[in-house]
Amino acid sequence: MCGIVGYAGNRDALSIIIGGLESLEYRGYDSAGVSVLEAGAIETTRATGKLSELKKVLSTKKRNGTASLGIGHTRWATHGRPTETNAHPHTAGRVSLIHNGIIENYLPLRAMLEGKGCVFLSETDTEVAAHLLNTLLAEGLEPLDAMREMCSKVKGSYAFLAIDSNNPDRVLVAKNSTPIIIGRGDEENLIASDIPAVLQHTRRILVLEDGDLAEVTASSVYIENGGKQVSRTEETISWDPITAQKGGFKHFMLKEIHDQARVVGDTLRGRISEHDASVKLPELDALRGKASSLKRIVMVACGTAWHACLEGKFFIEEFAGIPCEVDYASEFRYRSRLIDSDTLVIAVSQSGETLDTLGALECAAGKGPTLAICNVVGASICRKAEMVMYTHAGPEISVASTKAFTTQLVALQLLALFLAEARGTMSAAARRNVLHAVLELPAALSQTLKVDSEVAVVAKKFFQARDFLFLGRGRCYPIALEGALKLKEISYIHAEGYPAGEMKHGPIALIDENMPVVMILQREKPLFEKTLSNLKEVEARGARVIVVTDASEEDLKGVATQGLIRVPFVSSELSPILLNVPLQMLAYHVAVLNGTDVDLPRNLAKSVTVE
Ligand code: M6R
Repeated sequence: MCGIVGYAGNRDALSIIIGGLESLEYRGYDSAGVSVLEAGAIETTRATGKLSELKKVLSTKKRNGTASLGIGHTRWATHGRPTETNAHPHTAGRVSLIHNGIIENYLPLRAMLEGKGCVFLSETDTEVAAHLLNTLLAEGLEPLDAMREMCSKVKGSYAFLAIDSNNPDRVLVAKNSTPIIIGRGDEENLIASDIPAVLQHTRRILVLEDGDLAEVTASSVYIENGGKQVSRTEETISWDPITAQKGGFKHFMLKEIHDQARVVGDTLRGRISEHDASVKLPELDALRGKASSLKRIVMVACGTAWHACLEGKFFIEEFAGIPCEVDYASEFRYRSRLIDSDTLVIAVSQSGETLDTLGALECAAGKGPTLAICNVVGASICRKAEMVMYTHAGPEISVASTKAFTTQLVALQLLALFLAEARGTMSAAARRNVLHAVLELPAALSQTLKVDSEVAVVAKKFFQARDFLFLGRGRCYPIALEGALKLKEISYIHAEGYPAGEMKHGPIALIDENMPVVMILQREKPLFEKTLSNLKEVEARGARVIVVTDASEEDLKGVATQGLIRVPFVSSELSPILLNVPLQMLAYHVAVLNGTDVDLPRNLAKSVTVE
């Protein structure tokens, strides 16, 4: 996601800010910018692409002395394309401002500000905050009062940093649901979205909490919350910078697994309206009118995203009653395709650059409506599709996809509810039930993440196995496929995912005491009993069974296993999302024990741009 760095001190703010942003580069971004106060005036420089591009522009600029105060940003596009005008900082009058997060009510705010004569230059949600703050300062409010007032008007998540040319000694800060830290130095203070950005200069860190506002000068840090001054405990960071980039985790994959509870909140943010039990997806307005006439949906994707589509088929068929087909993008491209104007083609991709998925979408272009479900804003697949729904998982660095998959499932669940509402296939009461469960997901995921140490114990028992079998039925079959893919891609152990009920038609011949079988056992009836029978079948043939389940202790009485991992139950539809998490952890721990390169497994690339 986007990176933030601010500085107030006595040294060259520009080089410190750029250095800080460089240490956040691993997070991924598509444009960058800085604003510094030079000789009392705000000097802003922005560029698309990498920081090296920004540095090139800066090197051609004449500077008015050295700046000792400033803010800088690396932007990972959410609202508006990755262009120079959309890059942060955004300037309005005497204010320059950067923002991480999403302002949900930016459209009415923008209309209100335009009514007052403010001229907007970008497509971003952030620019409203710059104009609001400038307007409030111009009305005579003190800087922190203006910041407090501005924050009371915006809805959504934010970490804001702003500078005001009339108050050149301070950086204004506000935080809500988006991380921000302050690094304390000697006669200097730094502000950043992540700890690595300040570690070169200080290890003394204050972590701000939601609702905190701060005014940071070279020699002071004032923090308030709810209108009252508060203090935040100073922590001393002992991590090395590389570990710090990984948020203290040993690998990006582990960090991204643990990011899931938070990023699902980002996928949902602003998209659920509880009072009328509806899903707000303005980006799909064009689909609302067509929803009733849709006769078929074809989903195309590769790898993990293809597994997400298999799960999405359950959601869409069940809620919206539209028959769905799921195709490997590489297969779809080279067979006869019966697509007409009543067929919606959905391409699902984390990167938005996978060549096969892009090719499949090209085959569908012009025949019927097309939709991309994607994580990376402005990627090729997004530009090719008629409509785009973003998953907001943030940059995924590890080759093995984890949080992107989880957010794809959540996005597909929202899409299914959106289509159900548009087609009238679900009552408001039924939608409300599902939405209640959806809103519980971030907390349930946090709870699920606690099974990590139990999974590590199971991994220790089985990491030397040559083969693994993952079995599941119904909604748990795609999860079995995903569990097997994750294990094989990072541990190089042969693994297969199979529908548990299909075992007896052949693969059961593989079962012996050397074969660990991971059984994904959903509590939903009647598949619970059916899967349990399949478990007995493999157990009877000597398999070593690991059960991953959301069933209650009571239901599991008498089920003997060599490893039992239980996750919370939220709803039958959403169970697969939680049941998948221990499988990600299992793959991770087995790979670590086998000493493979977890984040960069052999022969694989993060985005596959070849056929
Ligand atoms: O970027 P995409 O979602 O289009 O990528 C598709 C696959 O290449 C990807 O999911 C791949 O299977 C992952 N390495 C799985 O962890």
